[in-house]
Formats: sequence, C-alpha cells, structure tokens
Amino acid sequence: MSTLQAVKYSRGSLQVLDQLRLPHEFHYDEVATSEEAFDCIRSMRVRGAPAIAIVASLAHAVELHNGSCQASSASDVLSYIHSRLDYLKESRPTAVDLTNAINRLKARTNAVAADGKGPEEIIRTYIEEAEQILDEDLQTNLSIGAYGADWLRDTVLASPEKKISVLTHCNTGSLATSGHGTALGIIRTLQARDLLSHAYCTETRPYNQGSRLTAFELVHEGIPATLITDSMAAALFALQKDKMNIAAVIVGADRVVRNGDTANKIGTYQLAVLAKHHGIKFIVAAPTTSIDLETETGEGIKIEERKKEELTQISGAIVRPDGSVDATETVRVATADQKIGVWNPAFDVTPHDLIDAVVTEKGTVVKNVDGQFDFSGLLPERWQQVVAR
Ligand code: MRU
Repeated sequence: MSTLQAVKYSRGSLQVLDQLRLPHEFHYDEVATSEEAFDCIRSMRVRGAPAIAIVASLAHAVELHNGSCQASSASDVLSYIHSRLDYLKESRPTAVDLTNAINRLKARTNAVAADGKGPEEIIRTYIEEAEQILDEDLQTNLSIGAYGADWLRDTVLASPEKKISVLTHCNTGSLATSGHGTALGIIRTLQARDLLSHAYCTETRPYNQGSRLTAFELVHEGIPATLITDSMAAALFALQKDKMNIAAVIVGADRVVRNGDTANKIGTYQLAVLAKHHGIKFIVAAPTTSIDLETETGEGIKIEERKKEELTQISGAIVRPDGSVDATETVRVATADQKIGVWNPAFDVTPHDLIDAVVTEKGTVVKNVDGQFDFSGLLPERWQQVVAR
C-alpha cells in the first residue's frame, strides 16, 4: 500500500500535496520560493503543525540551492537567510513548530558563521539542517506512536485479549507531518499491534480536516473507522457499549505551553470537557517541536482567526444523480446567509487539568502529584535557556 505523502522533496525541488483538493483529487504543487511557501501555508494547501514547519524550512532550502542569495559576505548571507525565515514565520501564528524550526535554523547558521565559515558553507549548512528537520519528523512520529500505544495498553486496556476504541479530532496523520502522524500515528500503531477495536473521527468544522483528510487516511490504511459530526461526540461517549465504548480521545497539538495548556484545532476543548465528564482519557500527542517552554500558560497563546467564508461557504466535488462522485468538477456553494456576522477562531486552548498525558517522541509525560505537567526533564537544554532569561 502506498503511503500518503504531504511533501515530496529532493535537493533543489519541493512538491507539496494540495490538501484543498482532497479527498477527490491528488495534485502536487511545485514550491520553489519563500513566497510560494507562505501562500501555500496561509491558504492551507498544506496544514498541520509539523508539515507547516517542514514546508517553510525546505522551500527556503530550495531557493538557496537554486541561487536566490546573491550576497557575497557571510554576514550578508546570514541576514538574507534570517530575513526570509522571519517572513515565513508570519504565515500562520499558532503552531509553534514553525518558530522552533526557524530558531533551530538560525542557531545552526549563526554557529557556522561564528566558526568563520563563508557564504557557501553557511548555505550548505542551512540546506542540510532543513533536510534533517524533514528526516527526523518521521522517526519522531513512529516513537510517538509506540509510546502512545504503550501508555494506552498499560492504562486503559481492561484485559490483554480486549481492544480499545478511540476518537480523534482534526487531521494529525501523514498529511499533517512527514509520515505516520502524531495522534493518528498512535491509532496506526494500535492497529498494527492489533489493539484497536475502532477509530472515530470528527468532521472538524469548519474546515473539515476530519472528514476530508482523516477519514481519507483511515480508509486508505484500512483502519476500522467511523465519521461523526463534532456535535455527536457527547452522544457517542454516553453510549459506552461494544465498539462504541470509547477509551480515549487522542488529539494533536499546535502548541503545548509550559504548564501543559494545549492549543489545537477548534473543538478540541469541548471534547476534553466531555471526556472528563464521561471518565474517558484525554491524550495530547505532540512532538517536542510543538512544546513552547517560553509561554507560561494558555493565555499567552495567539489564536489565529480566519475568514468568514470558511463558515458560510463550502466547496466539494459534484455528486451525480446516480450517486457517483465526479472529481473533475468542484463547486463552491453558500451554506448560510452571506451577510451574517461570523467568529472563526482556528484553534482553542484546552486547560492542562483536562489532559491526562502528553505523548512525545521522548516519552509520555503525566501530571505530578500536584496536578502539574513538568517538561523540564524532557527538554533540559531548552529549559536551561528559559531559566537563564
Ligand atoms: O488548521 P490546521 O489544519 O493546520 O490545524 C491542525 C491541527 O490543529 C492539528 O491537530 C495539529 O497541527 C497537529 S498536526 C500533527
């Protein structure tokens, strides 16, 4: 079975799957400049915290490889690279992976420049570092899958012969990362270990990452799965019988701050409240690149607000009278009075007290006896930098 790939990269060339056309059409766009990457991210042709960071980092690697930097001194090359990265950082504000990738790329290029290396060496270092960000992501996700499946097996599996059902929100799979996925990666690993009874995915209004992307990935992987609307979660949690006996909600993250408060796709918070009410575990799957130790609590997270048309209009492929889907034609239709006022935050913040575990590639973090998350042991270097400020 072929694996879905959000990004195809070889040195000097980056192709990005246009996720706006999914699930009906598979089309890759060539992304060769920072401007094209900015537009691709802002328009959500690529989305998902890790994938955004990967596309931004690699697009600049491609333009550097293709000779976009005309500067001849090391300091001019550095300021060129850093200014392009600062520009890319503005493409979407909430996911911290992009900021963390940019900080890493700046630190690495600063270090070679401080070593007295010249323009060519700085550019080569940038490209190699960006490629490493891509390569590391897949390994990271496989580890998250393993740690998450271990934790669920040890925490919620009633007996060794039983399997568990889970619910996930938004899309955190291969399409949001370099492969395997984070929350969806845990579901994949549960399935691979024969521990999964059933996966439920929410539609994820208004942008429908659940119905357009996660449902597509689950079908593609042959994972037993059911799609529900966001408003059906409480009814599902209340049933608690057979495959509908949900043991855990597993979500991704755009930013986990120091106390564990987590920004993720709008609708995550209400699922956490519902999970608590029904005694269902609530797990955040997040690479350490999604952790922001600088920000103390969720109140410090900037939440992106998007345009009203995402609520008042929708596009999709034509369904012919015989029920077949004609992907050659997509149409945009109005679903509400176009004059209605709209509030469209893309993310919400789930307070840490509603979260049972944060699963990272370095291990699973649970709250201490005081009910607090502590990520300092997981990220000692970054923690030292925070303390030193
Ligand atoms: O607006 P999106 O589609 O970029 O939002 C994506 C999410 O909220 C994901 O849950 C998060 O980025 C984690 S992806 C591994």
